[in-house]
Amino acid sequence: MRVKFTNLYKLVPKKKEILVKINSLIKNSKFVGGEEVANFEKNFSKFTGSKYCTTVGNGTDALEIAVKSLNLKKNSEIIVPANTWISTAEAVVNNGMKLVFCDINLEDYTICIKDLKKKINKKTKAIIAVHLYGNPANMIEIKKIIKNKKIKIIEDCAQAHGTKIKKKHVGSFGDVGTFSFFPGKNLGGFGDGGAIITNSKSIFNYCKRAKDHGALKKYDHQFSGRNSRLDTIQSAVLNIKLKSYNKVISLRNKLSKIYFKKLKKINGIKVFETKKNNTYSFHQFVIKTKKRNKLRSYLLNKKIDTMIHYPYMLNELKFFPNAKLNNCKRLGDQILSLPISEEHTAKEIEYVSNKIIDFFNKKK
Ligand SMILES: Cc1ncc(COP(=O)(O)O)c(C=O)c1O
Repeated sequence: MRVKFTNLYKLVPKKKEILVKINSLIKNSKFVGGEEVANFEKNFSKFTGSKYCTTVGNGTDALEIAVKSLNLKKNSEIIVPANTWISTAEAVVNNGMKLVFCDINLEDYTICIKDLKKKINKKTKAIIAVHLYGNPANMIEIKKIIKNKKIKIIEDCAQAHGTKIKKKHVGSFGDVGTFSFFPGKNLGGFGDGGAIITNSKSIFNYCKRAKDHGALKKYDHQFSGRNSRLDTIQSAVLNIKLKSYNKVISLRNKLSKIYFKKLKKINGIKVFETKKNNTYSFHQFVIKTKKRNKLRSYLLNKKIDTMIHYPYMLNELKFFPNAKLNNCKRLGDQILSLPISEEHTAKEIEYVSNKIIDFFNKKK
């Protein structure tokens, strides 16, 4: 059996409806802005339970604009977990802020609360919590830690559409939340895309202008911004996909149960831990094993694709500040992302699990 990591073509639902919609937008020359964008923003803010949403060109811009929206003094310290996609850290340095790396925990790979407490000092002005792999960072604890301190929170939800803590969507715990609609994300468009959500009117007003040259309408520039708009066609595609997105979450949850059941028993593998009050979106299903490379080759031989998120921790990249982080040490050599998506069948996930079991049985 051949098991692909993802099949982006198969992941496109309602192909006919999407084609009809794109055709009508082309016929009416609706390419930038308009009703589709406004509707998607309205629908996505409803989906996330946030007061405001503005779409942007990609998740990286969403983060950069979000950092800017906090209006911090240059060189303010911003804490970022070291296991994340590079954009989270880029948003800090590209804004002239000081990047401080924090360790992650080995239970669900999100920011380590113990290390976070150590990293906070008088110069700390913001924390970017990343809901990596669709696992919610512990927002309740993070909010407790910063209580009575002037520290802002950005939530990077690029991998966490539909992830919740006590039924509250991530991105709405802090000051501002950011999303990516890159095609490989759980809710992905037909190209790059992103969004910013917030309950703060002033942050929303800033972001809405910042992504469109500092203007709300043509020639109404109030400051120097940038061009980072979500295209009309992307908004239309995402609007259609969002309607059935809850089904995506439930299918991914169903498949994850197979992995949990089969892999939990294997000595030599650590499967991440879930908490009862959380809703997981299973963007990735990540296991940790010292035999990662051998297991990966074994699976490839059995025609099973896997990926690594990520093969390096950001503190290991030369151009970022160095940091000694115990849990992150050699983590990039031990983690492995297994195939999971709403288009995978239970049979495929069982096959992958059984091959992993075979690998560890043979090694004993
Ligand atoms: C955690 C995280 N943050 C930010 C981004 C950036 O999103 P984009 O690729 O849309 O710029 C990504 C995308 O891979 C991501 O996974």
